[in-house]
Amino acid sequence: MPLATKYLGLSLKNPLVASASPANAQIDHLRRLEDAGAAAVVLPSLFQEQLEAEDAIDALILNKTAYNSPEAMSYFPEAAEGPYGVGPDVYLDLIRRAKESLSIPVIASLNGASEAGWVTYAQSMQQAGASAIELNIYFVPIDMALTGQDVEDRYVNIVRATRRAVSIPLAVKLSPYVSALPNLAQRLHAEGADGLVLFNRLLQPDFDLMTLQMVEGVHLSTPDEISLPLSWIAILAGRTGASLAASTGVESDDDVVKYLLAGADVVMTTSALLRHGPRHLRQLLGGLKVWMELRNFNSVSELRGLMSWARSRHKELYGRPSYIKMLETGVV
Ligand SMILES: Cc1cc2nc3c(=O)[nH]c(=O)nc-3n(C[C@H](O)[C@H](O)[C@H](O)COP(=O)(O)O)c2cc1C
Repeated sequence: MPLATKYLGLSLKNPLVASASPANAQIDHLRRLEDAGAAAVVLPSLFQEQLEAEDAIDALILNKTAYNSPEAMSYFPEAAEGPYGVGPDVYLDLIRRAKESLSIPVIASLNGASEAGWVTYAQSMQQAGASAIELNIYFVPIDMALTGQDVEDRYVNIVRATRRAVSIPLAVKLSPYVSALPNLAQRLHAEGADGLVLFNRLLQPDFDLMTLQMVEGVHLSTPDEISLPLSWIAILAGRTGASLAASTGVESDDDVVKYLLAGADVVMTTSALLRHGPRHLRQLLGGLKVWMELRNFNSVSELRGLMSWARSRHKELYGRPSYIKMLETGVV
């Protein structure tokens, strides 16, 4: 099959993956994604905070049994519910139901910020049947004492601890804002990350000038945002042994082709699917096929990475000379 590809060692029918989003917590929606051509799906994340809240409840229950103090009951935290109202047990059930309902790989997602017990929850995800785990490491290094080395070590330690817990493939969803991405990518792969997802979209708040409040909320991405992940995928492609997933800004089949040319093994999309619905995948796949036919590419692997740094005859274009040229050229 000309579109067949591999990601994290999994064989996929094509390179399009529906990335994490709240809609992916609905089995009907997952089925529609599969019908429209998704080669794999990523479930919405289960958050470190949810798992820690659950542990706190368990500890209180143990305490209550030991001391039988009715008063202690009034201090129970609310049941652990995440941003999507999905607690840990419900999440495992979602993995099981998704596996039963779909024939494509189902990737579970764990989302946290520090090395702690929550990563061992990956074991339960594996037991529930997840085909792979995507580890979304999200934190903002606000602390002045935190160095770049500390930040990168934190990523590595979380991956090491998770790798110890599971044998299924592991992907790491990264932030673009690390000081030396190629070195970090190599370290993460050495610690057992089978793939990297580039990138997480960080909190990008606005200020309301009337209320002087911070305006939060998720904005759907636009194709303008592909430049940053595109250039990092091109720089990393073929150099670490880790699979690369492109995530951010895919709106049209052109964006899919660009990410593959840069060297992505799979191209993920969330915003476009929320905007246009699962059927949009058909358009992306159809457009990719037409583009390949017009240029006589017989397989995705023939075009993958053609524009990567490693295969470029003008490697300087990815560095400082290109930056200077850009400033000389001016606004285009
Ligand atoms: C409404 C919404 C919810 C999301 N929830 C998650 C999540 O639970 N876990 C996660 O790793 N990423 C989550 N993401 C990020 C997406 O998976 C994706 O990485 C990001 O939106 C960039 O891709 P896109 O430009 O195709 O939207 C979410 C994105 C959106 C828009």
